[in-house]
Amino acid sequence: MKQFKTVLVTGGAGFIGSHVIRRLLKEHADMHVVNLDLLTYAGNLENLRDLESNERYAFIKGDIGDTALIQQLFDQHDFDAVVHLAAESHVDRSIENPMAFLETNIIGTATLLHAAKNAWLGDGKDASNRCFYHVSTDEVYGSLGAEGVFSEETPYDPRSPYSSSKASSDHLVRAWHHTYGLPIVISNCSNNYGAHQFPEKLIPLMIRNVRDQRPLPVYGEGLNIRDWLWVEDHASAIDTILHNGTSGRTYNIGGLNEWRNIDLVHALIREVDAAMGRPEGTSLALITFVTDRAGHDMRYAIDASRIESELGWQPSIQFEDGLKETVRWYLDNAEWMDSVTSGNYQQYYETMYGNR
Ligand code: NAD
Ligand code: DAU
Repeated sequence: MKQFKTVLVTGGAGFIGSHVIRRLLKEHADMHVVNLDLLTYAGNLENLRDLESNERYAFIKGDIGDTALIQQLFDQHDFDAVVHLAAESHVDRSIENPMAFLETNIIGTATLLHAAKNAWLGDGKDASNRCFYHVSTDEVYGSLGAEGVFSEETPYDPRSPYSSSKASSDHLVRAWHHTYGLPIVISNCSNNYGAHQFPEKLIPLMIRNVRDQRPLPVYGEGLNIRDWLWVEDHASAIDTILHNGTSGRTYNIGGLNEWRNIDLVHALIREVDAAMGRPEGTSLALITFVTDRAGHDMRYAIDASRIESELGWQPSIQFEDGLKETVRWYLDNAEWMDSVTSGNYQQYYETMYGNR
């Protein structure tokens, strides 16, 4: 198992990044983490409040595309790993405003790669104990029909501005490995759920709207399928790959847990209504079928056999239990939900959804 002393995590104030930082600091007593995050609408330091007094943790507000800042951070700290999560992450926003996705997800990633190469390679330096870890998505593989799963060998076929920008960044990371010898790993994960996810994504959005008795916008006929993974299982997979993965290799991460959107919305209605003491079925009438997402990918499903067989990783929790816990978390943390959805998000929500 490799050891890392000083790790740069990008996007650590976001949903997955905050779980990754918490996991790394808990599991590795010698590790220091520097969290670089621009605090866009999706980044929130509340997600890391419990770590504020941890002396092995530091936060820097900044843009991964800011060459001077990135250079300065690499000069200041002897990073032996980068865990790169910072990204624009929401497909609907990428349809509205693709350029922001290209800037952050492509140019931002290239800026980090360039700085890591300059710091770690050349002049007889030995980079074999370093790692540039790029966190990516299963959406780079495109869309499945009723059959089949994405493996690491599935050809790339991204179809939204978001997934195209993530596919581009994956290619850049591999190019820096093949061309310059930068030590890298990439993982491509399916849909995450759990605490601290911004309530524009399906699960927290539906929990919030059932709680508030607002309409539940289901795209198209709700027949699209996603493969859901508990965010803490994603964090444990990232920890495993960082420490035990082979340089240059890609690992798919997923939980073999496919749900049609409409069935998931029904399950969320059941859970939230029950938790709020309402009779079963109270919120079913809130379901509102709305215009489908442009270019909506039909189905995602992950074959995670490589990470399971080579690195011994397994998801830890059953979806039904994870979903219950997730619903509980959002209802118990109404203050968090209300604070992150104020301001920019509120304006965006009104533009995208009107008063649906
Ligand atoms: P998120 O939107 O919750 O968080 C993204 C974070 O990146 C935020 O804290 C934001 O402030 C920060 N950020 C955005 N632009 C930045 C910039 N230019 N410079 C510095 N920081 C910036 O996203 P998430 O759901 O936590 O996803 C994290 C990563 O995991 C992304 O790379 C995403 O593509 C990938 N991923 C997400 C999922 C999922 O289901 N959410 C699944 C697979 C892969
Ligand atoms: O597969 C991994 C990807 O999962 C990540 O790379 C992305 O960052 C993450 O956002 C997520 O993308 P999706 O587009 O699959 O997630 P989202 O929660 O936006 O939507 C899930 C499904 O629910 C999708 O089929 C669209 C549908 N949907 C979504 C919203 C927000 C609705 O029907 N209504 C909604 O209001």
